[in-house]
Amino acid sequence: MDKSQQFTSLLDKVRKIVAGSDPREQKLQDICQLLEKEVLYYNWVGFYLVDLEGDQELVLGPFVGEPTEHNLISFGDGVCGQVADAQEMLVVQDVSQENNYLSCSPDVQSEIVVPLFNSEDELIGELDIDSHTKSPFTDEDRLFLDRVGELVGGLF
Ligand code: SME
Repeated sequence: MDKSQQFTSLLDKVRKIVAGSDPREQKLQDICQLLEKEVLYYNWVGFYLVDLEGDQELVLGPFVGEPTEHNLISFGDGVCGQVADAQEMLVVQDVSQENNYLSCSPDVQSEIVVPLFNSEDELIGELDIDSHTKSPFTDEDRLFLDRVGELVGGLF
């Protein structure tokens, strides 16, 4: 199975999780588990959710992978904070070249962060994926994760 076939099949599985009857938190956890297990170079998969009562902060939600000390990230800080400000997907193919970066583990080489929007087009969170491989993300990953992001945004 090539990458585009794999992503098509994974998208079907994400659709099924989203359409299921579990609570939203569980669906997010299941999506993390699926992506981390099935895509070999997705080594940490997690959600950060916008603290709607707080002041421009992201709160760590469901994730799979090594625990992180970054439970709370202010808008503007790190890759996640940059995405919260710009409201656009950001791909860092080599984290050693990124100045505004919050390290979770020395094993991480690259990162992709996808903003999530609700039906009113408000930013409600982010999908964050770290990889232990340098430059692993292609346009196929962008397209795939963009679709995953749309599906997850529909849950809010
Ligand atoms: N690297 C992120 C912080 C979150 S960890 O990857 C889990 C950043 O720079 O915002």
